[in-house]
Amino acid sequence: MTEHVASLIPLSGVDPEMVEQLLDRAFGPDRQSRTAYKVREGTEYLPALSFAVLDEDDLLVGTIQAWPVALTDPQGRPHPMLMIGPVAVLPERHGEGFGKALLAAQAAAMDPEAALPQVMIGDEPYYGRFGFTAAYTGGWTLPGPYDPARLLVRAANPAVLPRKGMLGPWKN
Ligand SMILES: CC(C)(COP(=O)(O)OP(=O)(O)OC[C@H]1O[C@@H](n2cnc3c(N)ncnc32)[C@H](O)[C@@H]1OP(=O)(O)O)[C@@H](O)C(=O)NCCC(=O)NCCS
Repeated sequence: MTEHVASLIPLSGVDPEMVEQLLDRAFGPDRQSRTAYKVREGTEYLPALSFAVLDEDDLLVGTIQAWPVALTDPQGRPHPMLMIGPVAVLPERHGEGFGKALLAAQAAAMDPEAALPQVMIGDEPYYGRFGFTAAYTGGWTLPGPYDPARLLVRAANPAVLPRKGMLGPWKN
């Protein structure tokens, strides 16, 4: 008998239309107007840091993405960062560890010697367990409305983070 288990694969192996449907279910169809989308506007997700979970029947149940963004400091200097998200798991499959697995896979794919700071908009009570904190983002601004308590960052060395700046897409 073959045992069917969930699998974790690169997001690039999933039909983009299926990803869109999952994100609509997790965040609602008006999600594109969210501030997070403006921060990464015009950029492409980074395939090496973006993953999907397929369930026992090969149905898409969760995704995580990462995007190239930059925090521009008051002197106009861009500080490259990764924007993490959306992190989405089908509502009926919450609490089964899929979110944790997606975050772990992404963290494992980052070079620990050269990881950029990672920023996201999310609940600190959940993402705090993965090292994200709002402690260093109080002086940062976003190109749209947001709850400052949900602007989170994870950095190997928080001392390198600018105290003030505006987040936006990182484009060369
Ligand atoms: C957040 C999300 C990705 C978590 O995925 P998941 O697969 O359910 O998470 P896990 O199974 O790894 O973890 C479940 C645990 O996290 C807790 N948890 C989930 N969401 C939480 C939140 N917003 N705040 C605090 N704790 C939360 C659960 O209570 C559970 O706790 P336990 O381990 O003590 O039982 C999922 O709930 C989701 O898709 N939410 C809607 C989209 C969203 O808000 N994304 C985040 C912004 S990008």
